[in-house]
Amino acid sequence: MATERTLSIIKPDGLEKDLIGTIIERFEEADLQPVAMRMTRLSEREAEGFYEVHKGEPFFDELIEFMTRGPVIVMVLEGKNAIERNRMIMGATDPAEADEGTIRSDFANDVGENIVHGSDSPENAEKEIRYFFSDTDIYERNVE
Ligand code: CMP
Repeated sequence: MATERTLSIIKPDGLEKDLIGTIIERFEEADLQPVAMRMTRLSEREAEGFYEVHKGEPFFDELIEFMTRGPVIVMVLEGKNAIERNRMIMGATDPAEADEGTIRSDFANDVGENIVHGSDSPENAEKEIRYFFSDTDIYERNVE
């Protein structure tokens, strides 16, 4: 299994519910290590740029309003098969369909407010990491 990096966002509802520590603990327990992290509040422009592929979808305006209503945590997770494993830990986009024990099943209200985002492919992971982080923001872990 290849070591990969993926972009993870704890969305405004995750912060409103005081779940930062709980969510990061789930990643760390699964050996997905944060190698970059920051709290930020997305501007409308940043949120629209990040979710550009969803422009034109009926839920787009609602998504932008939600993603800009409070601060988020953006982070890069690194680990074996990180992209797929992060998606397993998050659970399905719609919490009603998410497996028990996943973040979205345990904590999310609905498909619009689903606590976390994770990249869905290597191409998108690269693009999404670049959207928020430069090389100097990303750290090697496990170094002496
Ligand atoms: P995310 O993985 O961040 O990527 C796009 C987001 O759009 C998705 O999570 C959902 O939060 C949101 N989304 C997808 N489908 C719907 C929908 N039908 N209604 C509202 N929001 C949606």
